[in-house]
Amino acid sequence: MMDKLENISLDMSSIMVIFGGTGDLTKRKLMPALYNLALDNLIPENFVVVAIGRRQYSQEAYKKEIYEAIEKYSRNKISDDIWKRLEGMIHYYQLDFLHMEGYGALKEYLQKLDQGYNTKGNRLYYLAVAPEYFETIVSGLQDSGMAVSEGSWSRLVIEKPFGKDLKTASALNKALLKVFPEKSIFRIDHYLGKEMIQNIMVLRFCNSIFESIWNNKFIDNIQITLAEKLGVGTRGGYYEHSGAMRDMIQNHIFQILSLVAMEPPVNLKTDSIRSEKLKVLEAIEDITPEFLKNNVVFGQYGPGFIDGSFVPGYRQELNVPPDSMTETFVAMKLHINNFRWAGTPFYIRTGKRLGKTSAEIVVQFKSLPNILYFKDYEIQEPNLLVLKIQPSVGVFFQFNTRDFSSHNGIVATKMDTSHYSPTQGNTPEAYERLIYDILRGDGTLFSRWDEVEAAWTVADKLIQYRESKKHQFPNYDAGTMGPIRSFELLARDGRKWWHIEN
Ligand code: BG6
Repeated sequence: MMDKLENISLDMSSIMVIFGGTGDLTKRKLMPALYNLALDNLIPENFVVVAIGRRQYSQEAYKKEIYEAIEKYSRNKISDDIWKRLEGMIHYYQLDFLHMEGYGALKEYLQKLDQGYNTKGNRLYYLAVAPEYFETIVSGLQDSGMAVSEGSWSRLVIEKPFGKDLKTASALNKALLKVFPEKSIFRIDHYLGKEMIQNIMVLRFCNSIFESIWNNKFIDNIQITLAEKLGVGTRGGYYEHSGAMRDMIQNHIFQILSLVAMEPPVNLKTDSIRSEKLKVLEAIEDITPEFLKNNVVFGQYGPGFIDGSFVPGYRQELNVPPDSMTETFVAMKLHINNFRWAGTPFYIRTGKRLGKTSAEIVVQFKSLPNILYFKDYEIQEPNLLVLKIQPSVGVFFQFNTRDFSSHNGIVATKMDTSHYSPTQGNTPEAYERLIYDILRGDGTLFSRWDEVEAAWTVADKLIQYRESKKHQFPNYDAGTMGPIRSFELLARDGRKWWHIEN
């Protein structure tokens, strides 16, 4: 554990400055997370939140909205004591962050708060705004001398999407690095804050029964599914330029893939872990025209039924053109060409308006020869290890035992330690863990630039392919599990997508 602490600054006294203080993310995620951190006594003693917004608000009116948001979205019921404590830390500050002349006054305001609250000049700048504003705000911070200050720390938190391709991501990164050093930039991928994602390393590296067979000799294939019943809702404008590739694959899925496939790091230092994750992305097989033709399936949902209710197709959603060619579904088969994984396929899929909301990683082990316990009507089920991310959280394991009701039969026994937790129940929400880590200066659960770069290098080729082809969209009905070709992708290999019911 000492290794880990080396990364970490233990003085968390600071001002958290949220750009986008009246936005959706602040209300739904950041403020409820701060509330729960306060409840768990994890908020620093000396701490202030400055929420920046364009609108005029009285402090009371702003806090009332935040109270209501916490009431609605917090995993714990709001209690007066804790709210009083948090409320005392929250300050609304009106600023149009596009106007550079306002930054000087903000600086003075923060310095005054420093004196009142003993926050020591430490700053956590959280950009909860649309990505087109990232660079402007960072310039504002730099020009006004707020980005760095002698004897205190400044950290910058960037929400996804980090660029829209390798070129724009590199340009953004260059601009950020002119102002903040790499170790002060926290690129959020909220999946990394989820309990079961953090559990991947523990399951692998603290259980000899798993790690000793975690390779191409024993594993037949690995499947990663992030499926959602939700459609794009009111986010059509954003999604139209993003699609499932940029929204889910380039970040969440590639991060999960890295954790599942990486080598054990030499220690738990942030950079040791990130370097191993990076190697996985670098070992993804070449994305050749042949690969694209055979191994990638794009989809877009048409109208259909979700839980018995009719829902419109993607092209009928708000701010989506009626001839949109944006993908709302991707399935893919890929290989990681290193000694551990060569030959073992990874199947990944994600989509909106699918029949289930479920995120899980299925590890299918190779089957033993069907010689001893075999009748033509009995097929031996493989061993499956399933890491259930949501809505169930936990581990499922399937193995074969004797079926006492038959002569020589076998039956698959299912061991399931997961619990159903649609909002992750009372386990800390991803943002709580992530904000806490930023306050401690621990970047382990955030992506380093070279990881983002490697992910874009692969994603770019897939996106270019999707854009260059005329697809037969829509090609799956809302409420199904995606296009038929996604099933064919595995059937062709004699495999199928697993979905383990609760
Ligand atoms: C976000 C995507 O990053 O992740 C959304 O932009 C998606 O489109 C969401 O719905 C899924 O996250 P979660 O935590 O609800 O699985």
